[in-house]
Amino acid sequence: MSFLASTNLVAYHQSLLQDRERMGAYRRAVHEVVRPGDVVVDLGAGSGALSLFACQAGARRVYAIESGDAIELAREMSRRHGLQDRIVLVNERSYRARIDEPVDVIVTETFWNFGFGEGMLGAVLDARRRFLREEGRIVPAAFESWLAPADMPQLYAKLDRWPDEYELDMSLMRSLVMNNVHQVKVETEALMAEPARFAQMDMCEVEEADVFGEVEFAASRAGTIHGLVGWFSATLSPSVRLATAPPNPAPNWGHAFFPLDEPVRVERGDRLEASVRSTSNGDVWSWELHLAGESVSGSRFTNSTLWGFPFSVEDLHRQSPRFKPTLSQAGEIERFVLDMLDGTRELSEIEESARERFPETFPSREVAAAYVRRMVARCA
Ligand SMILES: C[S@@+](CC[C@H](N)C(=O)[O-])C[C@H]1O[C@@H](n2cnc3c(N)ncnc32)[C@H](O)[C@@H]1O
Repeated sequence: MSFLASTNLVAYHQSLLQDRERMGAYRRAVHEVVRPGDVVVDLGAGSGALSLFACQAGARRVYAIESGDAIELAREMSRRHGLQDRIVLVNERSYRARIDEPVDVIVTETFWNFGFGEGMLGAVLDARRRFLREEGRIVPAAFESWLAPADMPQLYAKLDRWPDEYELDMSLMRSLVMNNVHQVKVETEALMAEPARFAQMDMCEVEEADVFGEVEFAASRAGTIHGLVGWFSATLSPSVRLATAPPNPAPNWGHAFFPLDEPVRVERGDRLEASVRSTSNGDVWSWELHLAGESVSGSRFTNSTLWGFPFSVEDLHRQSPRFKPTLSQAGEIERFVLDMLDGTRELSEIEESARERFPETFPSREVAAAYVRRMVARCA
């Protein structure tokens, strides 16, 4: 790992561990839900804080699943707490992890600013189906996502500030910015209507990783709407809640800001209909706002992170379920080398064969050796 990557990783986990609201809530919840002798999965273990809480609560064994380099933090943390025999580290995406005993509790803190997103629901669903025993428990037990229209002129001005002295057409960048979800801090005064609950999930019941929700608002005052803001409220355990509604007490999370293409003026009482949809397991977000008040009747805004980057037509085509992929040259090389990892050949023979077969990719023995050894470290 590079110096920069390790610095960023440490800073990220520092901010997580210093967030008292988050840590306190999770500790109370884990102590409430985990019983002595339980087997626990910590999905997205990071530095291992929740695994350690589970051990404090009496877990017999904790499987700490972490796909990233943070697994090394979890390793050292469990060693420093003398818990390396009870915490089993699994350095995999949870989808690839295997657990060979029934699990009593799954704990996870993989919340995005809007609750689900960034693959959280899909990962929990998969872990629940494959690992959790019947009547098993999940922390968080449930969560809700909330939405409200917001009047945020300063934020919008910052997003929409395009210098014209360079004589460059910035319209592409503007359109991309307006089709991305931004992390912001919203003050309560910025909300233009009573917040509405957009989604509600019980983690032991939810079956879909993609979510669609529609809500209605009535503008509580005259003002300008610049976008929708979202946050979450989680029931971690029967008596522990963690909520990030404005003003947000948990500094680790921001609020999700879904901008409109243009700010729109509304009068008190104007009716607004909003919908938000997540697809691809929380990777793609689309939002729509329809204004039905007299002053703004018919205005409709439709935005999506699909338009938040100028993907090539080919990229989009490749996302289609009907796409029939063929191996690229990189894939051919990978398959060639993988086929040779059959326990009968020495590294030097594999390296030489790869160089002979793909001389343009491997102009020297050293280049072939570096490639093959990386593959061996990953797959053999
Ligand atoms: C917000 S951090 C939480 C870390 C730790 N549980 C805590 O509470 O301090 C989420 C971690 O989950 C990991 N993660 C997210 N999805 C994962 C998955 N499907 N499989 C394995 N690790 C995952 C990320 O790499 C990240 O380190």
